[in-house]
Amino acid sequence: MSSWVQALKTADLKPGTMVNVKLNGQNILIAQVNEQYFALLNDCPHLGCLLHRGKLQDYELTCPCHDWIFDIRTGEFVTAPEITIPTYPVRIEAGQIFVNLGGI
Ligand code: FES
Repeated sequence: MSSWVQALKTADLKPGTMVNVKLNGQNILIAQVNEQYFALLNDCPHLGCLLHRGKLQDYELTCPCHDWIFDIRTGEFVTAPEITIPTYPVRIEAGQIFVNLGGI
């Protein structure tokens, strides 16, 4: 099911940074790296910490709680790729970032 939701303005997300946006009652992390935008569920699969409070270096996101590292392009935990964070398609339109939450 397609469910595009407006998240924030591109002007409000600097390169190499990430923010939390509440969409449909869920914490969604939006990041910008190399002029690409990414959206992931902002909920670490280890113990549920908010990931946007961690570190972002290129495509690597480090959880602030116990330093698990994820690839924001795929949501995969780099040490054990079978553990993933849900990721969502992103679209830019008229300076706005839209996320397809797929019905969540
Ligand atoms: S809660 Fe993220 S690494 Fe533990």
